[in-house]
Amino acid sequence: MRLIIMDNADKVSEWAAKYVAKRIRHFNPGPDRYFVLGLPTGGTPLGMYEYLIQYYRAGDISFKYVKTFNMDEYVGIPRDHVESYHYYMMTNFFTHVDIDPNNAHILDGNAVDLHAECMNYERLIEEAGGVHLFIGGIGPDGHIAFNEPGSSLASKTRVKTLARETLEANARFFDNDIEKVPKQALTVGVGTVMSAETVMILITGSHKAFALHKAIEEGVNHMWTVSAFQQHPKTIILCDEDATLELK
Ligand code: F6R
Repeated sequence: MRLIIMDNADKVSEWAAKYVAKRIRHFNPGPDRYFVLGLPTGGTPLGMYEYLIQYYRAGDISFKYVKTFNMDEYVGIPRDHVESYHYYMMTNFFTHVDIDPNNAHILDGNAVDLHAECMNYERLIEEAGGVHLFIGGIGPDGHIAFNEPGSSLASKTRVKTLARETLEANARFFDNDIEKVPKQALTVGVGTVMSAETVMILITGSHKAFALHKAIEEGVNHMWTVSAFQQHPKTIILCDEDATLELK
């Protein structure tokens, strides 16, 4: 595992975007050879998406031969809802670069058969040849995607009923009304992310400092799902100074 500590969140975003750009360029993708990227939503990666858009506009990078798989999506809210991850990805990234929308995969939280949707997502990842680089973010409780404390570290894409704490934490995005927060989500599993060739986890802010400590300085523990990546052959933890406050 590589631990990379940058001065601040902006430097984390820049480093992450440069790394993504470098990996795509070195892969030299083409019509018969797509680079496969796993992507997160949330506040943390917003800066990385901005830098990637800049590099695209400057002609330094193209997403023409890139396939993406997002980590998760809420169940039962329309795609154009401002809190849907479809909306987030379209507004913050996909519509600003040259990715073919058919290659930008996001779980469908309105699928009639949610279980089949999850199985199909795993199949699509497999058919794409697996994920070359999965980028993730974590919550202060160490969750990655919607793999909350206690999730199986071998889990694959599935339907998750969200914990009361998650509903409370997310209420701020839904008019501060917990009743409006979707009760379920579709999420890749810890095992899905573990299958990627490289995993890069972005962690910024002092509110994530304890989670970073649990992620790397104690043993693997399903109550801190991010700790699973200690056993991944190629994980990069990219964090800012603030996130290191609890490191020994
Ligand atoms: C994102 C995701 C989550 C977030 C995490 C941190 O698709 O599944 O793991 O990365 O909740 O969110 P922010 O970045 O908003 O602190």
